[in-house]
Amino acid sequence: MLFPVFPRSFPMQRTFILLKPDTVQRRLMGQIVARFEAKGLNFIAMKMLRITPELAKQHYAEHVEKAWYPTLEGFITGGPVLAAVVEGLDAIRVVREMLGATSGLQAAPGTIRGDYSSSQQMNLVHGSDGPEAVDREIALYFDEDQICRYEPVITPWMRAADEG
Ligand code: CDP
Ligand code: MG
Repeated sequence: MLFPVFPRSFPMQRTFILLKPDTVQRRLMGQIVARFEAKGLNFIAMKMLRITPELAKQHYAEHVEKAWYPTLEGFITGGPVLAAVVEGLDAIRVVREMLGATSGLQAAPGTIRGDYSSSQQMNLVHGSDGPEAVDREIALYFDEDQICRYEPVITPWMRAADEG
């Protein structure tokens, strides 16, 4: 008997997230990690570190020339962060939509920034904005052998097999 092969509707993707120093200081790490886990994203790498000014300039290369970059650098280097790689279907878009708009005051209720932030700078979480950013940002924070892929046993209960 031939089993039908369902085309996958969404790509399995990795994305990079960074819980910024305000998340750590406000003791929101657990709540924010829990939201990504509950959605169905798998954490496959995680590390706490203190971002140096050099790493900040690499991470935010596209913003280094902006007038507000110096205060962003002061903020992002001002305390420890939690860097992580998550994996899931359409993960890059899903994570960005879970974060909400850049400004916490404008982000929709129900998003992480909309629920917990009132700031444009202290908006708690960074998420890569596309596949090229994912590769670049993961390489800034992790070696490939620090990424721990696994197949969660709960997968059959997260999404019907015939959804692809
Ligand atoms: O993080 P996102 O992609 O939503 O925003 P962005 O426009 O790429 O800016 C990167 C980060 O810079 C933001 O998440 C804020 O933390 C910070 N930022 C800031 O400090 N002041 C601004 N006027 C805009 C952004
Ligand atoms: Mg951005």
